[in-house]
Amino acid sequence: MINIIKDQEVLRFIAEESKRQIDELELIASENYVSPAVLAALATPLVNKYSEGYPGHRYYGGNHLIDEIENLAIERAKQLFQAEHVNIQPLSGSPANLAVYLALLQPGDTVLSLRLDHGGHLSHGHPVNISGRLFNFVHYEVDPQTGCLNMDQIRKIAKEVRPKLIIAGFSAYSREIDWAGFQDIASEVGAFTLADISHTAGLIAGGQLINPTPLFDVVTTTTHKTLRGPRGAIIMCQEKLAKKIDQAVFPGLQGGPHDNVTAAKAIALGEALEPSFKKYAHQVIVNAQFLAKKLQEKGYTIVSGGTDNHLMVIDLRPQQITGREAEIALEKAGLSVSRSTIPGDSRPPFNPSGLRLGTAAVTTRGFKEQEMEQIANWFDQALNKRDSKPALAEIKQQVSTLGRRLPPPQYNQIYATTAY
Ligand SMILES: Cc1ncc(COP(=O)(O)O)c(C=O)c1O
Repeated sequence: MINIIKDQEVLRFIAEESKRQIDELELIASENYVSPAVLAALATPLVNKYSEGYPGHRYYGGNHLIDEIENLAIERAKQLFQAEHVNIQPLSGSPANLAVYLALLQPGDTVLSLRLDHGGHLSHGHPVNISGRLFNFVHYEVDPQTGCLNMDQIRKIAKEVRPKLIIAGFSAYSREIDWAGFQDIASEVGAFTLADISHTAGLIAGGQLINPTPLFDVVTTTTHKTLRGPRGAIIMCQEKLAKKIDQAVFPGLQGGPHDNVTAAKAIALGEALEPSFKKYAHQVIVNAQFLAKKLQEKGYTIVSGGTDNHLMVIDLRPQQITGREAEIALEKAGLSVSRSTIPGDSRPPFNPSGLRLGTAAVTTRGFKEQEMEQIANWFDQALNKRDSKPALAEIKQQVSTLGRRLPPPQYNQIYATTAY
């Protein structure tokens, strides 16, 4: 398919990046490999269309087929998450969260969310993000002893600050979330609830984790992490909030939706409704738990002692390696990971004390426990031999042999015939 691109400068980089994605292993918890069908939908003439508004209510002509696609995506999301109302148009996770704030809050209102360095997200009120500049965010933390959320502590803060909105759902938290507990606290203090399931949506859709959608007022999710769709987001809410949410997305925050992405979202949601997706979601968690166990056996400290989902945060202080050093060494060995703060980190986010790993992408390639053990071995070797260029190059060679044996799905089917 990329053979159509004749611009050699751009083509070279696309081809090289495509090759990198085969040869290296993606352990970044927020990434995945979309199916060939999702990838193909993104490169269709739908990209040409303008469709400001909603199905049946557009500000441009020629949208009857786009309406059908958007309705299909909405119906599939409703079915998958048991949602009363779905807005499929948010361009990404951060603008989806901002749209929710615009819908439910006034500037200056108090919101309760998890601290960024304890596993929260920038768009949950960090001062460098627009959310933190417009609203009065107060943060809860994970328990320093257990690395887990302490619902009594969260209740205590909620009663003190009486937030208008409570956010649960995180970027770097590996344990099941007590959604009902959050909802109880919100009811006690009269707050709205927002579940940001960006990371775990695929595991929830695959029936492996508890679904907060029937409980919470609003749920946001990116579509490109465990859900394995195109880059973008979805907002789901109870019918009583539908109008406010829709108005906040358009015209409040965005202009025209990206219709090619809407089609790709519809396809990804359809894939997530297939029985095989349940198996995938299950294996993602089996793999994460197995990888965590193997790393623990090698002496690594996993925050909270393990994982219930697709990710884990590794505290590298005992190894006396910073997250940045580890990320760089692992990249040289062909393992893509992201540095991460650990709860209460004394180091800055650019060079924190930990790493975050996830298994959603490698599981899409068909990796199972055997490959997880191999990854744990390479991980340990790369960190131990981080000063040896030849040792890291040797690991990279072994990684790419496995990568070529189990490539991401789209490469087999779409790029296999290309020249590079
Ligand atoms: C919990 C959470 N919310 C929102 C986002 C933001 O998504 P995006 O990068 O699409 O803006 C992320 C992305 O990492 C996330 O982890």
